Amino acid sequence: MKQETVLVTGGLGYIGSHTVVELLKAGYQVIVVDNLSNSEHFILDRIIRITQKEPIFYQDDVCDLAAMSKIFKKHQVDVVIHFAAFKSVGESVEKPLLYYQNNLISLLNILQLIQENSVKGLVFSSSATVYGEPDELPATEETPFKKALSAYGSTKQMGEEILEKVCDAASFHAISLRYFNPVGAHETALIGELPKGIPNNLFPYVTQTAKGKLAMLTVFGDDYNTVDGTCVRDYIHVVDLAKAHLAACRRIINQECQSSSEVYNIGTGKGTTVLEIIKQFEATTGKSLTHQIGARRPGDAEAVYADCSKAEKELLWKATLNLKDMIQSSWAWENSLNH
Ligand code: NAD
Ligand code: WQD
Repeated sequence: MKQETVLVTGGLGYIGSHTVVELLKAGYQVIVVDNLSNSEHFILDRIIRITQKEPIFYQDDVCDLAAMSKIFKKHQVDVVIHFAAFKSVGESVEKPLLYYQNNLISLLNILQLIQENSVKGLVFSSSATVYGEPDELPATEETPFKKALSAYGSTKQMGEEILEKVCDAASFHAISLRYFNPVGAHETALIGELPKGIPNNLFPYVTQTAKGKLAMLTVFGDDYNTVDGTCVRDYIHVVDLAKAHLAACRRIINQECQSSSEVYNIGTGKGTTVLEIIKQFEATTGKSLTHQIGARRPGDAEAVYADCSKAEKELLWKATLNLKDMIQSSWAWENSLNH
């Protein structure tokens, strides 16, 4: 039987590395392209340690069309999973051009190469950020977009729109996965999220505070209209998320797509508040977490969680790991880091 080849851009990053592990375990041939702008080379060795298999690795920039073209000429790629992008919402407000350049030029290059090299399709990393503060909860794929507050959010909305138009006129398929809040780490604690500097996101902030690297967690507002006044999010384990990419690849390879470009919410469907995360962290790890209530963070939505029934029905994918698994694995990963 032919071994299908999946090219993964950003494959040494947080979500990419977990997806590469699942792809290798499932028997795919994997090519990783990463410029290490937000990842470390040692993650490649860790992937090999977990899977006992070796992906082909190119340290290249996806925005470099000539370098990428060589890779596509050398290997017959069946599907591309395109993770490579910058992802800091705050930084994108300060440096919007950098975000438009990296996130959009990389996508346009990938689309050109898919077209030129008869690749079957693309899985694109979209985000719940496209919904902003959703008008309806849970958010379904039909919930309208809100005007993006950041350049980052705008690149995800534009990315989906580009895919819709390009795929309508082309012979390949695209599947955009709208991730909700990815957290957690691999059960081996060999790969996980590697935030640079002081983290912006809740989970690494929680684990670094519990570890004593940071003095205190600030809860951004407790006067929202939610059960305990703090914001609600749909946290999803990164390994469940990785598996959603395999489901999307299978759908493309098996020619099951119903339209040229499809979108799916990828979450658990369950909303959890910030205070519930703190309580669950303390109960799961036995560590008490120093925290205070602070002001609201500008731009934060009150509550965001997903209706994932479309993914369950069409991708045959459903999240299986719970909040305890997310906390345990993030904590084990934090404890494995010696800096
Ligand atoms: P990450 O920063 O850990 O991974 C991205 C990887 O892409 C990094 O290894 C980085 O070095 C690489 N990269 C960036 N630009 C590149 C380029 N031009 N050429 C080659 N490599 C490049 O981020 P992540 O959390 O794994 O996110 C992966 C994708 O998922 C991104 O597109 C992100 O926008 C999207 N996403 C992330 C989240 C989240 O909360 N983590 C949520 C929704 C969507
Ligand atoms: C979660 C909750 C905060 C830190 C971001 C991006 C989104 C997507 C996922 C890429 C919120 C609260 C946080 C802290 C806190 N990424 N919080 N104290 O903002 O839901 O989503 O990551 O696509 O686009 O915006 O995630 O982890 O930053 O925050 O109280 O120190 O935790 O207010 O309610 P967010 P987050």
